[in-house]
Amino acid sequence: MAVENIVEEYIRTHPGSQKLHGRAEKVFAADGATHVARLLSPFRPYITHAKGSRKWDVDGNEYIDYVMGHGALILGHGHPDVVRAVQEQMAKGVHYGDNHELEIEWAELIKSMMPSVERVEFFSCGQEANMMAIRLARIFTGKRKILKFDENFHGWADEVVAPALGVVADEVKVIPGHDLNLVEEELAAKEYAILLIEGGGAHMGGQIPWDADFVRALPGLTQRYGTIFLIDEVVTGFRDSLGGWQATVGVTPDLTTLGKTIGGGLGVGALGGRADIMDILKPKAPPQRFIIHTGTWNANPLTAAAGIAACKLYIGGEVQKKANQLGAYLRERGNQALKERGINGRLYGSSIVHLYLGPIDYEPSDDTLPPTRDVRKLMAGVPTKVRLCLHLLHRGVSTVGARFFILSVAHTEKDIDQTVKAFADSLDAMIAEGTLNQASPG
Ligand SMILES: Cc1ncc(COP(=O)(O)O)c(C=O)c1O
Repeated sequence: MAVENIVEEYIRTHPGSQKLHGRAEKVFAADGATHVARLLSPFRPYITHAKGSRKWDVDGNEYIDYVMGHGALILGHGHPDVVRAVQEQMAKGVHYGDNHELEIEWAELIKSMMPSVERVEFFSCGQEANMMAIRLARIFTGKRKILKFDENFHGWADEVVAPALGVVADEVKVIPGHDLNLVEEELAAKEYAILLIEGGGAHMGGQIPWDADFVRALPGLTQRYGTIFLIDEVVTGFRDSLGGWQATVGVTPDLTTLGKTIGGGLGVGALGGRADIMDILKPKAPPQRFIIHTGTWNANPLTAAAGIAACKLYIGGEVQKKANQLGAYLRERGNQALKERGINGRLYGSSIVHLYLGPIDYEPSDDTLPPTRDVRKLMAGVPTKVRLCLHLLHRGVSTVGARFFILSVAHTEKDIDQTVKAFADSLDAMIAEGTLNQASPG
């Protein structure tokens, strides 16, 4: 049965969260949220604990979690190997302010999974790794400018956002994706230190997926014009495939940034890549080519212990396989629900399943791809999805704005069956309340 007024109903069933949101608004300027993805009107639930594929809020509501630590938790909440490693390390010391064997083991595991990684450097988060990559590229090439693609996300710092956002990103040029002539035109000016792309495509592993042939052509161009080519695998690294997204497309970047999954759920970033570029960090480098790297939390033993426990589980490739299988199951069942209701839209993607609501421009050969190549269409439909997000929360399914469902190995087919039921009921409720249109017959 359709819920008459979802907002009222949601507030009624989340009184504890409403109260906490009131407190949060007084301390956090961004409408009480500590991350833009945690914003929702009237408010998102306030979580008390999580386990496996589930999390619970202060009002006792249970959710199947598809936010999964913004993509960090491919093992799910509280994987026993990670919990054990963290607990044991906690007792041995969280920070030695010194070198330790765990950091070496962790870096060796990463190197063994990704052949393009000759050297590794650890950071507190993914964005920091991108900042270091930019700095290294500038020194290595002697050039200043940064080239990136429309919608591709690399963090919030000046150097990685579009200048139009009102920040001091005047050396950043943002161009549309999939235009090789344009890329060559820009690079030919020989002013660019680095070209960055998001692994998989823009937004969480590919809401706007890359055409593999386009990406395969990029290293040839960057080499020709003396620009460093970076693939940002902060989301995709060790998620969809063992060698990262670069292994699935068969492209070798100069540098790769990692984060999320490699920390097993603790905050981390890493930069890996060509030794000759990373050697700029060597104290013996010529003074004009040497940069220092500090960072209190770099490779701290606690994160290293969690990271090792997690990376050991990625090595066999089984984690990635299972997350992809679950993604395929969600796509198949969810798309059936859309089809049965005559709703123009599609679930696509791999271990992160994206929701597209809009016209079907063509039938892709592969159901990991969306049924349109139009970037504006892929990015549209936000208010409808936000409404859907609220409906899903009300039915025990937690997503970021119903834009994507992030799978982990802790999810089960039963979870997905329950999710698809909540998805179908939400669609029905939205059709009934007039916030979602069905396609015209025929
Ligand atoms: C592709 C990509 N790069 C970089 C980042 C920034 O990582 P962090 O939030 O760990 O700084 C993110 C965060 O979501 C991301 O999705």
